Amino acid sequence: MRKGIILAGGTGSRLYPLTYPVSKQLLPVFDKPMIYYGLSTLMLSDIKEILIISGPNDLPHFQNLFGDGSKLGLEINYAPQAEPAGIAEAFIIGDDFIGNDPVALILGDNIFFGDGLASRLQAASEKTEAVIFSYHVKNPGDYGVIELDPSGKAVSIEEKPAVPKSSLAVTGLYYYPNDVIGIAKELAPSARGELEITEINQIYLQRGRLEVQQLNRGYAWLDAGTETDLLEAANFIATIERRQGVRIGCIEEVAWRMGWITSVQLNSLGQELNKSAYGRYILSLGD
Ligand code: G1P
Repeated sequence: MRKGIILAGGTGSRLYPLTYPVSKQLLPVFDKPMIYYGLSTLMLSDIKEILIISGPNDLPHFQNLFGDGSKLGLEINYAPQAEPAGIAEAFIIGDDFIGNDPVALILGDNIFFGDGLASRLQAASEKTEAVIFSYHVKNPGDYGVIELDPSGKAVSIEEKPAVPKSSLAVTGLYYYPNDVIGIAKELAPSARGELEITEINQIYLQRGRLEVQQLNRGYAWLDAGTETDLLEAANFIATIERRQGVRIGCIEEVAWRMGWITSVQLNSLGQELNKSAYGRYILSLGD
């Protein structure tokens, strides 16, 4: 079975002083901690064995939040990243956890939303080769950028290029075969001193083993790098949730809909949170 890694590292320095006392991925995005969105995305990919990687000081907070994951029908493990040495280091830190399985990685500040997302994710998870997602953005130079040929085939990927060859950013959700561990171990640090996820994608691209799927305009892909991004993400979530009366990234609901917990278990998770609107939402689900 494919394993999942949530990388919730980094210093969050672009959000100081917000991230002095708490990891960025624990900051609220409207009604829940940011990491709930990434966790629910992996869960919707039908992934139950998850490794959370974070800085050594922040790891206990994540452990406090999720424990061993069994309440959600998950198996959640934890591992420290001593220094922010790059996204690709997740596969080296996660070597034993991944074992011989394929793996998905999501960045803990990425939020995905859209109709049909779960079936897209599950289809990606069933592939034997690497799958990444592209998304049209106004500021591609802030991301990995994919260049497509006229037939829509990826021809290059560059990390934060000064002159982007397209408007297509690489999102922070990656599905790889097991040999990503070996590829990550061969990488040398980039000019900014990090093991770059973009170099892994370049290697799969060169080998003809990378599938790039576009998330088109019916989807939302948000990240929370700056205070404005954080506010906009919260407003986006709040708008949909308040209009529809359904919640996005509710991990208890996802676990229940995936059939990993019973209605009785769902109800007791709701009871623990019954002083909040979030908890009362969970309690309303079984009705
Ligand atoms: C990282 C990756 C980049 C990717 C982005 C998605 O950027 O290096 O390729 O497009 O995540 O969120 P960083 O978070 O290091 O700025």
